Amino acid sequence: MAETVADPKTFMFGGKKRSGSVTDDLGQDDHLAAVTKKKALGVVPFGFHHMDDPAAALANSRHEFGEHGGVNMSIEASATFTVMEPETMRRMFSGELGADRDFFIYSRHFNPTVLNLSRQMAALEGTEAAYCTSSGMSAISSVLMQLCNTGDHVVASRTLYGGTHALLTHFFPRLSNISTTFVDVGDMAMVNDAIQLGKTKVLYLESMSNPTLMVANVPELCRIAHDKGVKVVVDNTFAPMVLSPARLGADVVVHSISKYVSGGADIIAGAVCGPASLVNSMMDLHQGALMLLGPTMNAKVAFELSERIPHLSLRVKEHCNRALVYATRMKNLGLKVIYPGLEEHPQHKLLKSMANKDYGYGGILCLDMETEERANRLMYHLQNYTQFGLMAVSLGYYETLMSCSGSSTSSEMNTEEKELAGISPGLVRMSIGYSGTLEQRWSQFEKALGRMQQDTGLFNKI
Ligand SMILES: Cc1ncc(COP(=O)(O)O)c(C=O)c1O
Repeated sequence: MAETVADPKTFMFGGKKRSGSVTDDLGQDDHLAAVTKKKALGVVPFGFHHMDDPAAALANSRHEFGEHGGVNMSIEASATFTVMEPETMRRMFSGELGADRDFFIYSRHFNPTVLNLSRQMAALEGTEAAYCTSSGMSAISSVLMQLCNTGDHVVASRTLYGGTHALLTHFFPRLSNISTTFVDVGDMAMVNDAIQLGKTKVLYLESMSNPTLMVANVPELCRIAHDKGVKVVVDNTFAPMVLSPARLGADVVVHSISKYVSGGADIIAGAVCGPASLVNSMMDLHQGALMLLGPTMNAKVAFELSERIPHLSLRVKEHCNRALVYATRMKNLGLKVIYPGLEEHPQHKLLKSMANKDYGYGGILCLDMETEERANRLMYHLQNYTQFGLMAVSLGYYETLMSCSGSSTSSEMNTEEKELAGISPGLVRMSIGYSGTLEQRWSQFEKALGRMQQDTGLFNKI
């Protein structure tokens, strides 16, 4: 590993362009090869893998070393980047020299640390490229703005995260005349009929829907969309590792990294994973939605997140394991539970046929308590009486998070839209955590349920 130790000549400046000379060192290939060897270890250049297991793809993606040979990459906490020759600046701005060859301009454009995290996201999702953003919503809105022009049309699933639903229902029509037809993505004829030839640019859906946990038939939907020249964008926030939509045919995968990928409920972040041509177009100095709207991820945040991706597969497996155990036990208690790992779930077989092996069926389950009052009462006892989990939106945290979707994360939808999406007023979404022991948490659940059944007056007195 001697080659990982910084060459004293490069020590002052660290980067490839400053190796003890006053030129920008454009003596290309030999030099690039040497630099790559020193800075990174890995066999596949930019995240593109034909591997079945996302953890294997991640392990095979390039490992960045720190500037001084550290096992962790360095943080490039610079907003701007210097050159040794003025001509290099002109060539960078013309697009001739770019991040792919380690030339950086300014961190709202490509930043090396954000790019390293993005390589991990590309490996995770099996796409050619990726770029990370300041939130999931900025990833979603930017990619849709890149793929659609004024007057274009989107076909979208009826069951989407409330923020995305609002973006398509209210924000885009007001701002840019981009209209959306919402459909049941389980009804292929309905999807097919909604596509307007030439006008529809995007089919948008969630691999596993928020909050109803409907699983989309990604290969079939891609076939219908691609036949009509429509790009498929899939939000895989609910099922990283479990599902790989790009490997199933999707053109673009978007993420709210704020959820499972982060795992700490402390960071808001997102990613767009797709072809290099799309990622580069989003960074175009004249037309790029990321470059021009500027939802930039900070390099320090990118570093933090990149440290968490190597254990994402372990976390997801335990989230999924506990969700399946609890869903099965809840069903046996006679509760109305929705979980794609249960055989009676309408897309259980479909999920099994698409899922990556050995991860499970997702870490979220829903309990339909029928009324909002009963939902609230259960959550109250689960948090304040037995400490089973926390009443909070979001997901993918090590603690269990519970929210009544109709009055929280789906409250942007009106009553009819919620009905169509299958969101009952008493639906409690639970993102199952892995802290404590499985049995300890289960006994807390049972105790809260018992209290609720025997002590119905308690909540009203509080
Ligand atoms: C499925 C899904 N997509 C996107 C988002 C938006 O992500 P963010 O909060 O990171 O902007 C959320 C939740 O907030 C979500 O649940």
